[in-house]
Amino acid sequence: MNDTQQKNIMEYETVELDDADSALVILDQTKLPAAAELIRLYTAQEIWDAIYLLKVRGAPAIGVAAAFGIYLLAKAIDTQDYDTFYREFCRQKEYLNSARPTAVNLSWALNRMDRVCRDNRELPVPDIKRKLKETAAAMKEEDIRVCRAIGEYGLTLLKPGDGILTHCNAGQLATCRYGTATAPIYLGQERGYHFRVFADETRPLLQGARLTAYELLSFGVDVTLICDNMSAAVMRNGWINAVFVGCDRVAANGDVANKIGTSVAALVAQRYHVPFYVCAPTSTIDRDTPSGAEIVIEQRPAGEVTDMWYEKPMAPAGVKVFNPAFDVTDHDLITGIVTEYGIAREPYTEAFQDIFRKKENGLRSGREGF
Ligand code: MRU
Repeated sequence: MNDTQQKNIMEYETVELDDADSALVILDQTKLPAAAELIRLYTAQEIWDAIYLLKVRGAPAIGVAAAFGIYLLAKAIDTQDYDTFYREFCRQKEYLNSARPTAVNLSWALNRMDRVCRDNRELPVPDIKRKLKETAAAMKEEDIRVCRAIGEYGLTLLKPGDGILTHCNAGQLATCRYGTATAPIYLGQERGYHFRVFADETRPLLQGARLTAYELLSFGVDVTLICDNMSAAVMRNGWINAVFVGCDRVAANGDVANKIGTSVAALVAQRYHVPFYVCAPTSTIDRDTPSGAEIVIEQRPAGEVTDMWYEKPMAPAGVKVFNPAFDVTDHDLITGIVTEYGIAREPYTEAFQDIFRKKENGLRSGREGF
């Protein structure tokens, strides 16, 4: 029996800092479900590659990995002069930020680390480095609390025995614990809800088959794997009471970018009157992007569609391939967006004002609002 069969998913750390070794430690998601392998990343190139190659993936996990990563790169900057330090910090930050364009958590996390430098520019450089480390560690702890809160709100939308469809992996592996779309499933499992979960395999990179099915199974959840083109069949059969997905960026009007194929699940859900919920930490809501039309969609290599996972190529050499990593689900297909401060519903622009007001009040009063 290998390690992946022995351990329950909650026993893994998706992203960790080993400060003594100046290493970012991640669970290599490209090896799952066959092996649970921790890898240690030291250089900017290694961290960039791990994000680009999806060794660490999922919007919140990418954000926390980038925060620890930029801390480690800042720690290695050998100067006591703030301007020299900050110039090099910005160079490294821009480099990490270029790894993937769609998940806003990457730039959100790096910008938050950038603010730590600017707000503390009067301090000696070693003190700034210490604050960077504290901030990155706080972001990881916050992510765990945020996911749990999303789980609590999400659970209010479900009842025992419900059938749930999910797409891609918005699970523990995509965050620091619980996941976003899977958080209500994990909390429900602990409380005896006996959900029946259907996981889309999620072509082309199979995050649903390799990661979501693996995670849920390891936690004892009743999970059934389906191909992406089977969502209409299971919804038509009446097996699905709600769709729960994660997201990489929510625009100000409530349009959502998530893994390619999410919008298909939303359209099918509308046809069969199944509520469609998006789980989004406030760190994924980008009020500077007016609508889905302005979201940059990452395009990935053709080989992911034609060759990856197959023993030999499954398409003729030279065929044209379109391989966007994400698509946009229009806000009118979304029943609600579940955040750590409550559930936003149409009209989203106003709902988000309310959510962010709660967040600001919570932060001001030292409570986090959930
Ligand atoms: O390309 P990936 O695997 O990083 O895509 C991930 C997703 O689309 C997730 O649904 C999203 O990041 C939310 S994770 C809580």
